[in-house]
Amino acid sequence: MDIAKEIEELTNQALQEIAALGELKALEGWRVLYLGKKSQLTGLLRGLAQLPVEERRAAGALTNELKRLLESSLEEKRAALQSAQVAALQEQGRLDVTLPGRPLLQGRLHLTTQVVRQICDIFKSLGFQVVEGPEVEWDYYNFEALNIPKDHPARDMWDTFWVDYTNEQGQRPMLLRTHTSPMQIRVMEKTSPPVRVVVPGKVYRYEATDATHESMFYQIEGLAVDKGITFADLKGCLFEFARRLYGPDRKARFRCDYFPFVEPGVEMAIDCFACTGAGCRLCSNTGWIEILGAGMVHPDVLRRVNYDPEVYTGFAFGLGVERIPILRYGIEDIRLFYSNDLRFLKQF
Ligand code: DAH
Repeated sequence: MDIAKEIEELTNQALQEIAALGELKALEGWRVLYLGKKSQLTGLLRGLAQLPVEERRAAGALTNELKRLLESSLEEKRAALQSAQVAALQEQGRLDVTLPGRPLLQGRLHLTTQVVRQICDIFKSLGFQVVEGPEVEWDYYNFEALNIPKDHPARDMWDTFWVDYTNEQGQRPMLLRTHTSPMQIRVMEKTSPPVRVVVPGKVYRYEATDATHESMFYQIEGLAVDKGITFADLKGCLFEFARRLYGPDRKARFRCDYFPFVEPGVEMAIDCFACTGAGCRLCSNTGWIEILGAGMVHPDVLRRVNYDPEVYTGFAFGLGVERIPILRYGIEDIRLFYSNDLRFLKQF
C-alpha cells in the first residue's frame, strides 16, 4: 500500500479514537496501541530503511510528522482529561461558604476536677506539693500503719471493698483504698522531713448508694511534718485555706473528733456561708458546716516510718471533695457527679 495513504488512514483512526476517550486510565491503552513498540507507527519507522532512496525522504518526513501529531494529541488529551478530573473533584467537594457553620461541641473540665484543682492551687501557694497514690492499696497502708489493726472496731468507720486475692497466710491483704490517708505513710517512708504534701484522688466505700452516698468519691489528704509543728500551725493553715476557698470573712470552729492516726483529732467547721451562722437548711439550722477532719499525726504513726516523734511533729487533714460543690451549688444528689449526664455536667 501507498505509505501516504496508510499514514492518512492511521491518522484518522487514531484521532477519532482519542477524541472518544473519556477517562485518563483509557489513555494508556491508546498510547500503547499507537505509539508503543509494537505499534503500526514503529513498524513504519523501521520499514523506512528498506525503501528505495527516492521514496525514503518523503516517506520519512510523513512518518515523523505522524509521530509528532500522535504525541502532541496524547499530551493535549492528557491535559484536558486531567483538568476535567480536577474540575469534577472541585465540584463534588464544593464548599458553600454561605451555609451556617456546624456547631462544635465544647469540652470542659469535670466539676470535680475543677474543685480538686482549686483546692490544690490553694495548698500549693501555701508550700504544699501535690502527689498521687495507688487506688488499689495494701491493708497495711490503708489501715495497719494508720493505727487501725485487724479486728479493731475503728475499721467499722470504713466499709471496705476487698480485692479477691489471698496471700500465703490465707489473708486478703489488698483493697480499694477507703481514704487517701495511706499516702501519708507512703510519702513518709520515701522522704525524710520536712514533708508538706496534698494528695487528691479517688476513694471507695462499700455502701448502698443514695442521694448522699456514692461508692466512689474524691478526697484530698494533707500532711505536714517538721521540727516544731504545733496545733497552732494546723489551725492557721486550715483556717487560711477555708478563707481562700469560702471568702475572707469566714469563721472557723474546731471540735474534738476521733481518727485513729491523729492525736488529738478534730473536725473543722466554718460558719455557714448561706446564712452566716443564723441557721438555715444548708447548715441544718446549726449555723456551722463541717468541712474536714484533721489532727496532729499520732506518734505511733511517725515511729512506724522511722521518724522520731521526740524530734518531729506534724498535722494531717482529709476532706471530701464533692461536698464542696454540693454545698456551693445546692446539688441534691451526689450520684449526679458520676452518671455522665451532660445536662448536669454542662452547667459547670
Ligand atoms: N481519712 C479520714 C476519712 O476518710 C479523714 C481524715 C481525718 C484524714 C483526719 C486525716 C485526718 O488526715 O487527720 O474519714
